Amino acid sequence: MVALTRDGLETSELPLPKDQAPHHVAIIMDGNGRWAKAHGLPRTEGHRQGTENLRRILRSCVKFGVKILTIYAFSTENWARPRAEVQMLMRILEGVIDRELDELHRNGVQIRHIGELSGIAPILQRKIKYACEYTRNNTQLILNVAFNYGGRDEIVHAVRRIVADQVPAEDINEALISRYLYTSDLPDPDLIIRTSGELRISNFLIWQGAYSELYTTPTYWPDFDESELGKALIAYGERKRRFGKTDEQLDAS
Ligand code: IPE
Ligand code: IPE
Ligand code: MG
Repeated sequence: MVALTRDGLETSELPLPKDQAPHHVAIIMDGNGRWAKAHGLPRTEGHRQGTENLRRILRSCVKFGVKILTIYAFSTENWARPRAEVQMLMRILEGVIDRELDELHRNGVQIRHIGELSGIAPILQRKIKYACEYTRNNTQLILNVAFNYGGRDEIVHAVRRIVADQVPAEDINEALISRYLYTSDLPDPDLIIRTSGELRISNFLIWQGAYSELYTTPTYWPDFDESELGKALIAYGERKRRFGKTDEQLDAS
């Protein structure tokens, strides 16, 4: 007998039953430059292909039952890249908003931004704010875009606001700090994926990722397709999330 899910897919086509899929997946989309080099193309083309890939992965996330996708698109450290590349990465985000916003909206995607808006050119800031506002009531998938984002920078901003709000020292706890982060009303990521073989976090969700499962693959981001995402979800399904407890405690609960 073939079990069908609500959208008509055979259950066997899903890497995990939807109710066991990670609720929040975060991806460090790395390797665009090396992908381009391996194909004898300019880095620009790697970023373009990487953007195309995001469209595909968004669809796969919906299909697999992921509810929140956070993507690392531009880090606070990426300002150190050559000026022309920085400008291009800015233009890519602008282009995505201009061209894809309506389709994302039609597909029920709620766009959010995490990171420091004030460092970004005013016109792009306005577009980001508009995209978030325009899609704010959508519920199919939250696409959380980390752009001009750095985990340390986020904590510095949170501390400044806590001080500005004159929060008494005895009221400061983990829940309060979480509320002051860019991700305040989002749950922590269950799974953080990094493409391109690097084994580091590069200042991504350093507070929120404290207990996330980590998955890395040598595949460059433009080649990270649905089957690669499926493999990451299968690996996630095999993990035992202990949150500090023993196996015996988990087995008893
Ligand atoms: C990821 O690809 C995209 C951004 C960091 C904006 P890279 O541009 O870092 O690609 P590699 O790591 O040089 O291959
Ligand atoms: C992390 O990738 C940032 C993004 C994917 C946006 P980088 O390519 O900038 O990271 P490092 O410099 O190799 O650590
Ligand atoms: Mg890189």
